[in-house]
Amino acid sequence: MALMVWNEKLSVNIKAIDRQHQKIVGIINELHDAMKERRGRDVMAGLLVELVDYSGYHFDTEEDFFRQYKYPGLLVHKSEHDLFKSRVEHMRSQFNGGNKLIVVEAMDFLKDWLSDHILVTDHKYSPFLNGKGVY
Ligand SMILES: [Fe+2]
Repeated sequence: MALMVWNEKLSVNIKAIDRQHQKIVGIINELHDAMKERRGRDVMAGLLVELVDYSGYHFDTEEDFFRQYKYPGLLVHKSEHDLFKSRVEHMRSQFNGGNKLIVVEAMDFLKDWLSDHILVTDHKYSPFLNGKGVY
């Protein structure tokens, strides 16, 4: 069973961003499945790299929108992204150093962070960007 399920409440009403969020939900679910099915170290390490790379790419997309439209909440929002990036980067280095349990410990963090971040912090920019014509 998937750890996270996408639903309309998570939508920020901007197509490209919703697609990226769905992709991140997908990577977190794959990581969860890989962990439960005790798949190999290489699979897990690959998924962690994918999570680091794709979330970085996604945060850049949001932050580019913020700069382009002079979103006043940029700094606070970016600080949440930066915290997540450092947590995931730390998780990846711990895993690569042999601590496989770090992924088990971090699963709740990943799920909770992503849904809280989308539902609270991301939802603050959607009316602002929608008002600038971004959908
Ligand atoms: Fe965000």
